[in-house]
Amino acid sequence: MQETFEKTKNWFETYVEGFFTNDSINNSIIRLKLDHTHRVCHNAAILADALKLNSQDHLNARLTALLHDVGRFRQFSLYQTFNDAVSDNHALMGIREIECHGVLDGLDAEDRRLICRAIACHNVPALPEEKDERSLLFMRLIRDADKLDVYKVLLQNYRDQDRDSRNTVLHKLPDTPHCSPKILDALLGRKVAKFEDMKTLNDFKLLKVGWVYDLNFSASFKILQHHRYIEQLKEILPTTEPVTTAVDQALAYVASRL
Ligand SMILES: [Fe+2]
Repeated sequence: MQETFEKTKNWFETYVEGFFTNDSINNSIIRLKLDHTHRVCHNAAILADALKLNSQDHLNARLTALLHDVGRFRQFSLYQTFNDAVSDNHALMGIREIECHGVLDGLDAEDRRLICRAIACHNVPALPEEKDERSLLFMRLIRDADKLDVYKVLLQNYRDQDRDSRNTVLHKLPDTPHCSPKILDALLGRKVAKFEDMKTLNDFKLLKVGWVYDLNFSASFKILQHHRYIEQLKEILPTTEPVTTAVDQALAYVASRL
């Protein structure tokens, strides 16, 4: 099992090498996604341990994590953005790369199907209707492992004004005091807000606070709490009454799921 993971990881590292150029800004953004992938693999392994998955499912979870953003590299090299809405769906781009390079050809067809289904759904606003519990498991696991690291990337890039990747990570949203009513209403209604309703950087932060309502496992809430990601977001949000109420409600929800 570990051998399969290492072999796939070697392919992945070599594949990503091909996207480094002599442009330092490009390279820092490729590096950012590479580091993100490594940390998502780590999160996926923690969740797989917590869920006591058998060795094949543990491997599937880690392979899903390793390959979930493989489409990001081609996306950035073609479009210079991570915004799917103005470029292409990076999850589906990734699956095309996996298929075209035969990356998972050593696995059973069923394991390949589970991994690709989970990758295809890792970036959709909500989990699709799905009756197959095993499919759902990998979808939930990668969505949580990914979200938990996106909190880290967002906070890191927000604080580092000079970071080359800042605009790419934060989607060039204006850093004004405004919070859009649609985003606040979604958060107060315990829903994940719509990406297209974001107008400001504060909206982006609020949308990420709302991700707590889309986390699936108590181990995920433990990781979230350990890093105090929602508390850290609260510190960089306005202190107006509706924002404080909505964020405190999210914090109470996290506490209830631990
Ligand atoms: Fe992704």
